[in-house]
Amino acid sequence: MSTALFRGSGGRRARSWAWTSLVTATVGALAAAGLVATAGTASAQSTLADAAESQGRYFGTAVASGRLGESDYVATLDREFNSVTAENSMKWESLQPSQGYFDFSAADRIVDHARGQGMAVRGHTLVWHSQLPGWVESLGTNDLRSAMNNHITEVMQHYQGDVDTWDVVNEAFQDGGSGARRDSVFQRRLGDGWIEEAFRTARSVDPNATLCYNDYNTDAWNSAKTQAVYDMVADFVSRGVPIDCVGFQAHFNSGNPVPNNYHETLQNFADLGVDVQITELDIAGSGESQAEQYGGVTQACLAVSRCTGITVWGVTDKYSWRSEDTPLLFDGDYNAKPAYHAVLETLGGSGGGGGGGGGDDTADCTVTYSETDRWGDRFNGQVTVRAGDSAIDSWSTTVTVHPPQKISATWNGDPSWDSSGDVMTMRSHGGLAAGGTTTFGFTVMANGNWTTPTLGSCTAS
Ligand code: G3I
Repeated sequence: MSTALFRGSGGRRARSWAWTSLVTATVGALAAAGLVATAGTASAQSTLADAAESQGRYFGTAVASGRLGESDYVATLDREFNSVTAENSMKWESLQPSQGYFDFSAADRIVDHARGQGMAVRGHTLVWHSQLPGWVESLGTNDLRSAMNNHITEVMQHYQGDVDTWDVVNEAFQDGGSGARRDSVFQRRLGDGWIEEAFRTARSVDPNATLCYNDYNTDAWNSAKTQAVYDMVADFVSRGVPIDCVGFQAHFNSGNPVPNNYHETLQNFADLGVDVQITELDIAGSGESQAEQYGGVTQACLAVSRCTGITVWGVTDKYSWRSEDTPLLFDGDYNAKPAYHAVLETLGGSGGGGGGGGGDDTADCTVTYSETDRWGDRFNGQVTVRAGDSAIDSWSTTVTVHPPQKISATWNGDPSWDSSGDVMTMRSHGGLAAGGTTTFGFTVMANGNWTTPTLGSCTAS
């Protein structure tokens, strides 16, 4: 057995999810209006955690245990978030790689860190067809049933008092139009009752834990998968099967955009008498368009009193499971992106971002990028700089191009370059009034690489 330490009960994190703001705009209306309505007063919480807490909610992130030695990662995690989900370390293959052998060491590092910072921990995930060790796949019906219930029991007991919410079952439904259960080893061997059994076991192990069913592509209300999950939850609730919450993973991209009726989906599930949580949020994109979508998802959660919190699926783009899509709130240098500010402002906060690289400055301006022209060999980029709530005397930001790209021309600013020639720092010619905007532009010779340049944070004085 693992020698990993079992921490005694750290005491369950007190939660008082109060409904404090009624926001009725749909995501579609919000996007159409352009970001962003500010919820609540301008008392200006300057972190995601504080702003979310002021709305009676948590704001969490997925954490990779191997990154906890990186100071900027930890500084950003500790400053901005008050809930943590292990990105991989609590999955079955990590915790019980061979039958009866439990290794809690990596997950314990995450839980110890989070609890030491006073953060809540979401447990992800007890039963899932993926990241499942081979020995489980080869069990017969009775052995599989025992193994499933034993895994739930051992893991929940280990983290009792520290993990307040569990994804008991993850991704049990198929994609597409069938609305059918996924053809997993659990479904094949145990039949339809396995999900119910997992929830009943979980409740019996830790009666205080919030028990969630978690899935993806359940965002659009009319999709077959959403309907199938809804029917299962409605059935569980009506028959007293212990389920407390439904997790919406919310991995969005251009092929799977944030639906207009997202708020309706969350509300319909909540109306069944369960909490809803956004559990793995990431949205492919950049700049203002990504920011609008993030603001819309945040708004949708605020509009549903039983939407108790949001977790983004990672701290920084550079460690995202799909980093090429830059889907998170902080860029690879830990600079807060426009999406961050959209979320913070939608939660009623302002300022924030902590500055890149571990929080050494506070931005009171923001920058967003758009491509304005493209030719066969080059494109023009434009950056909009916007002052925050106060007037600023000057601003600066960076634009990093991706070799072999080269910037061949700039306008409306004072550029300088680092020694590689890839990082351009652009400084203002003057100041901006509170809330005022200006733009600068540049031409990038693509040299075969059409990747969008990376924007740093905005620094103002
Ligand atoms: O740690 C090993 C490393 O030693 C090895 O060299 C390397 C080479 O393949 O693999 C590393 O493990 C990878 C692990 O992430 C840690 O980086 C696995 O291959 C890789 O499969 C695993 O991907 C994870 C994925 O789940 C697996 O399905 C992602 O990090 C994780 O973000 C993702 O999370 C899931 C949620 O649990 C459920 N919802 C969907 C979401 C995104 O797929």
